[in-house]
Amino acid sequence: MNSLTPLSIDGICRVEFGPGRIDRLPALIAATGHTRAFVVTDRGLRAAGVAERVLKTLDSAGIEYAVYDEVAPNPSTGNVDAGAARARAFGPAAVVALGGGSVLDAAKGISLLVGNPDAVAADADHLWDGADGLPLVAIPTTSGTGAETNGFGVIEDAAAHRKVYIGHPSVRPQVALLDPELTLGLPAAATAATGIDALVHGIESLASRGANPFSVAYATQAVTLVSRALPAAYRDGSDLDARAELMMGAHLAGQALTLSGLGLVHGIGHALTAHTGTPHGVALAAVLEEVMEFSAPAARDAYEQAGRAMRLDPPADGDWARATVAAVREISAALDIKRPLRELGADRPMLSSVAAGAVADAVTKNAPRIPETAEVLEILERTY
Ligand SMILES: NC(=O)c1ccc[n+]([C@@H]2O[C@H](COP(=O)([O-])OP(=O)(O)OC[C@H]3O[C@@H](n4cnc5c(N)ncnc54)[C@H](O)[C@@H]3O)[C@@H](O)[C@H]2O)c1
Repeated sequence: MNSLTPLSIDGICRVEFGPGRIDRLPALIAATGHTRAFVVTDRGLRAAGVAERVLKTLDSAGIEYAVYDEVAPNPSTGNVDAGAARARAFGPAAVVALGGGSVLDAAKGISLLVGNPDAVAADADHLWDGADGLPLVAIPTTSGTGAETNGFGVIEDAAAHRKVYIGHPSVRPQVALLDPELTLGLPAAATAATGIDALVHGIESLASRGANPFSVAYATQAVTLVSRALPAAYRDGSDLDARAELMMGAHLAGQALTLSGLGLVHGIGHALTAHTGTPHGVALAAVLEEVMEFSAPAARDAYEQAGRAMRLDPPADGDWARATVAAVREISAALDIKRPLRELGADRPMLSSVAAGAVADAVTKNAPRIPETAEVLEILERTY
């Protein structure tokens, strides 16, 4: 875009950020106009004690609530239908989504289905034109997806073997409650896998064809915060400063990508996860530097912006793209997250199908250099 390109930006949701901020939850529920809460979470959050801490704040405030804690990683239409049935039986309430991207996505579907009582989650395509959902308060417990910034989620329709995008403007969270204390117990490997997602959001947003002054502002600050805090939070999960910077960076990266779109790292990542079940962030890390090298001829300014955001010294040869890719490689190595595709369950015959999936994925349309299938295959061969 240039300085005369017309632009329409929908403002961000209310954000409450800070250690201990979870204590504001009762007031934030009241601000939605409801006195009761339907809490969506998962078994991992129960086991880690995070859910109990949050429920205690509701108990202390005398807020009546019900809990649905059966959301699975990469949630299914079955999870969403079962949660919605529970929520309908509970009656009018604000939906409180407490968890990582899986819980946040499922909660959006649950909230929407309550407003559309004759629908099931597999009807996702029709729900975009449907009635409003229940108001949502999102409390992310991972620092990565940025799912608290938007009104859509990715749900697995196991019966039809397809992913469905379920969403509606009404289920974009009214409040994002960002309390880094809730992430202190996230294990190191999960911190790395979810955090690298945020770094890629920032870098791909800067280089996206959909980048605009708002997304660039968010993405630049996101890259600064995530590149500094992610290795520190991985090394020492109890470092509250690092957890806080990482959480804010991941949120800003989510705001950025919602405004700009992403690119080929996510296109390949989605296809790789669909074929091998590799966790999202690990799939992204497997091809990140190689996709950046491929994209560099069309993304020089964006990679310079990313490198400057990472506070790199100006390279002696003036080649910012090379310097930025090298810095990303260093972060990836510090997180011990990069694996060859063959170790992630990919085999050679699968690679052409992964390449075709990556090229067809909607996110790839915003890549700075649009790839041919053969070019993606070359990247996959190099990382095999
Ligand atoms: N809507 C969006 O904008 C968007 C964007 C990217 C990804 N996603 C979706 O997000 C999902 C992935 O989300 P994710 O990477 O956040 O992981 P996740 O939600 O699947 O969580 C992974 C595991 O970490 C555990 N966990 C979460 N927080 C914890 C904590 N604080 N302490 C201890 N354990 C904790 C969970 O119990 C779970 O077992 C995918 O389904 C993906 O499709 C959505």
